[in-house]
Amino acid sequence: MRQMRMTDELRSLGRSGVAEAEAADDLATLDAVRVAYLGKKGSLTAVLRGLGSLPSEERPEVGRVANEVRAELESAIDARRAELAAKALEERVAAEAVDVTLPGRRRPAGHVHLIDQVVREIVDIFVGLGYRVASGPEVELDWYNFTALNTPPDHPARSLQDTFYVKDLSGDRAAVAGESDVVLRTHTSPVQVRVMESAKPPIYIVAPGRCYRRDIPDPSHTPQFNQIEGLVVDEGITFGDLKGTLEHFVREMFGADRRTRIRPHFFGFTEPSAEVDVSCGICGGHGCRFCKGTGWLEILGCGMVDPNVFGYAGVDAERYTGFAFGMGAERIAALRHDIPDLRVFLESDVRFLRQF
Ligand code: DAH
Repeated sequence: MRQMRMTDELRSLGRSGVAEAEAADDLATLDAVRVAYLGKKGSLTAVLRGLGSLPSEERPEVGRVANEVRAELESAIDARRAELAAKALEERVAAEAVDVTLPGRRRPAGHVHLIDQVVREIVDIFVGLGYRVASGPEVELDWYNFTALNTPPDHPARSLQDTFYVKDLSGDRAAVAGESDVVLRTHTSPVQVRVMESAKPPIYIVAPGRCYRRDIPDPSHTPQFNQIEGLVVDEGITFGDLKGTLEHFVREMFGADRRTRIRPHFFGFTEPSAEVDVSCGICGGHGCRFCKGTGWLEILGCGMVDPNVFGYAGVDAERYTGFAFGMGAERIAALRHDIPDLRVFLESDVRFLRQF
């Protein structure tokens, strides 16, 4: 009788244990069920401990049932644990899933700065005429920047107010008293001399590059700017060649409807020298605020290479003649796009730059 009660009790204990295990929603709850039944102080363990106090003839049967119940409960717990682990894995996989069909996140790509676009366009026009591209250093010797360009030591352009002088640590004595022999080039014209020194005519080159002057930034000045220099040295070059070349350039750059005007001017390294104007694109040449009522916009300086410069650069002035020109990229870009203030080119404001 007692044996009956004992095995019934064991079986009902087993059933409720299996039911609790199957109902467990997570691994912690499941483990609590295991401890409650099978742990050291668990209810099934307590029953098994009591086996010793049973009469010996009852022990085998009760022991068998107890082992059976324990095995069932253990396998129910194991099965539920496997289920819960699979569920947890599934949830993690779902949560961490990567949709490989989504488009990638593109980094915004920049583009060539307006000034470089304009420089390239200008260079391309001359390359189309057979010119080659030359370059020179931005930190330049006084000799190339001024002296060899026929700009004497007392010329106002050499003043500290106009030019950035670089401290010369070479130990050489400055040619100009109180000033260094090294400057940040104030124009691209020194490239003319460097090219003539290193190459024999015929010379047809353009030289784009950065230049520096001690100007306080205002709508028409920036202390750093870009120029494009041009130089032609060959036999029989005349002012007519210069004029025709620049008229071609203006039409390519500004459009076939624009007119060109050449005015006399002075530059130390050319003789005669001139400035070139293009007819105003806003008013068509009638005069407006943009062209200050004149109908014309100044775009470059030019002239026939001064024989003195040939002398400094080692070119035979009896045999060769040549012309040179120089223009500011910022100024050309501003005229092209009606930009009233050159400082925007240095401010790197993408809202401005994006437009070009
Ligand atoms: N270098 C001059 C300047 O910065 C521009 C210039 C004028 C260049 C006449 C030339 C030239 O080659 O012939 O103002």
